[in-house]
Amino acid sequence: MKRLKALLKEPVSVQLVLGTQWGDEGKGKIVDLIGEDVDIVARYQGGPNAGHTVEFDDEKFILHLIPSGILRPHTQCIIGNGVVINPETLLEEINNLESRGIEVIGRLFISQSAHLILPYHQLIEKGFEESGTREKIGTTRRGIGPSYADKASRIGIRVGDLLDTDQLKAKIHQNVIFKNSILKAIYNTFGVNEKDLFNQLLDFKEKIKGCIVDGRWMLLQGVQAGKKVLLEGAQGTMLDIDFGTYPYVTSSNTTIGGACTGLGIGPKKIGRIIGIVKAYTTRVGNGPFPTELEGSFGEVIRKLGTEYGATTGRPRRCGWFDAMVVRYAAEISDIDYLALTKLDVLDSLKEIKICTGYRYQNHQLDHLPADSQVLNSVEPVYEVLPGWEQSISKIRKYQDLPEKARQYLKRIESLVKVPIGLVSVGPKREDTIWMSSKD
Ligand code: GDP
Ligand code: IMO
Ligand code: MG
Repeated sequence: MKRLKALLKEPVSVQLVLGTQWGDEGKGKIVDLIGEDVDIVARYQGGPNAGHTVEFDDEKFILHLIPSGILRPHTQCIIGNGVVINPETLLEEINNLESRGIEVIGRLFISQSAHLILPYHQLIEKGFEESGTREKIGTTRRGIGPSYADKASRIGIRVGDLLDTDQLKAKIHQNVIFKNSILKAIYNTFGVNEKDLFNQLLDFKEKIKGCIVDGRWMLLQGVQAGKKVLLEGAQGTMLDIDFGTYPYVTSSNTTIGGACTGLGIGPKKIGRIIGIVKAYTTRVGNGPFPTELEGSFGEVIRKLGTEYGATTGRPRRCGWFDAMVVRYAAEISDIDYLALTKLDVLDSLKEIKICTGYRYQNHQLDHLPADSQVLNSVEPVYEVLPGWEQSISKIRKYQDLPEKARQYLKRIESLVKVPIGLVSVGPKREDTIWMSSKD
């Protein structure tokens, strides 16, 4: 496939990274990599359900709320209004990074309009997941859904509310009464202590008050001053609240629109959209997954790829690459480039399958069905490609990859209809092949 004029390595004013599958595609590694050449990294949705891993030298970091760009000392990092923040998790993350020598306060900025996740959100989520009223979603239990629900119900507490102590007290009072009565009546659980929660939030404010900003304005000023900006997505397209496998999704828009609403940036400012894609597919939690490998072969891939959740440690479900899913992601988010990760995980396989389409009730589907029930019943159509059966983790140039690995990449490009801009062959920064215009 013909590469675009501007290669992935060439700078643009604003670029964006998002997941094209069910999350855990390797967004953290790619954000850190691109972070070398940018000034501001901004997270736009999700919350501490995310686990973004960055490895370099002998260090390994897992970021949940703070943008992965924090590991590049020259960057400023913004947590946008679209993110939901658990104060305890954020403080832990700040302390953990600072104890490892990463300067955070002074470089981290938090939108005043971002909503908080409070202990009653987690209790409500736990109560609902365990109530047996329907099959579990298999959430991360971080209180993500209930916090976004409060935002939509216009009763949420926002970061900016911390700055007005009287208002904060009143909002907590109102919420705690309401939430505790739900917890008692429906789940027969003790709720939260209003005073403890208020004091906890006052402590939180003391630590982060200097970080609170009008995130939209800060970002706009940065762009206008010629700063290079990278927008960091969490989760993946198939977990999008509108376009994912509803109801087995997260509670935010993980696709392109989430970046605009989650930061207050116009779509025309985003000059390059990069879709992160794993060389195969994984999913944590319940819901449809057409190419899932059940049984021992799924276990083989899980072991080869160390597929265990970075946030909850749960084993990830594994399956073949699904071109229907990634093309769908490309269509929704207008992806310019794919960054393909974990190709090295497939090194030892004799044969590799790619799902090129779905059959449903004796018809071939020409696009991904909007109905999750249909997606749950489709039969994947596979193409079998030969494996390269050699280690590629030391390779740094596309032309040095084995012919069969290149064949696999070319097939993905032609099925997804988007060029691959980089290939990742290991977790570290240097384990990367940047594509050139000749490749
Ligand atoms: P994210 O949520 O999209 O940031 O991805 P996670 O961090 O949850 O999961 C990706 C995992 O794969 C992490 O453990 C990374 O260190 C690792 N990883 C990233 N790229 C590669 C790669 O190219 N090869 C291998 N073997 N591991 C990788
Ligand atoms: P990153 O950013 C993979 C999944 C959960 C569950 C569903 C809803 O690391 O790619 P939630 O707690 O969000 O209400 O759970 O979404 N999920 C993720 N799966 N990677 C993630 O984040 C995820 N964040 C949420 O497992 O199926
Ligand atoms: Mg992850």
